[in-house]
Amino acid sequence: MAESLDLPKNASRAEVYEALFPQVQALLAGETDWIANLANVVAALKEAFGFFWVGFYRVQEGQLVLGPFQGPIACTRIAFDRGVCGHAYRAGSAVIVPDVERFPGHIACSSLSKSEIVVPVRDSSGAIIAVLDVDSDRLNDFSEVDREGLEKILDLLKGVTL
Ligand code: SME
Repeated sequence: MAESLDLPKNASRAEVYEALFPQVQALLAGETDWIANLANVVAALKEAFGFFWVGFYRVQEGQLVLGPFQGPIACTRIAFDRGVCGHAYRAGSAVIVPDVERFPGHIACSSLSKSEIVVPVRDSSGAIIAVLDVDSDRLNDFSEVDREGLEKILDLLKGVTL
């Protein structure tokens, strides 16, 4: 395993996702411990993009429960019918929120969070086992580029036991 990420400077976000993918793939290769893998995925995303908050909520006992994350402290449990995370879980697909103040039911863990993307994580059987929540302190910070880049990275987690 490489000791640090090798990321292009002054590159577009799409280019950074492209450079990051094989490095995350290498990081996860041969490791089956889910905490280790989720922790390294959030660390890689934080380092690559400097997101304000990036972390996982795992599906546990009928709720979303905080998992490995990087950023300020966050709420630990989210009901399936609450917040952007619950919405993405129920929808079974990624949700991009350009302005969290305009999203009814958004859970404000930090008033600094302005926009976000939440992407479901599926296991090899297709069941949603977690969601990845990425928050930005800038409005309208996420696009289809992030959806594609993040979905591709999260696909690497298939087969990891949660
Ligand atoms: N933004 C989330 C809540 C979790 S935190 O922001 C870390 C939501 O509304 O689902």
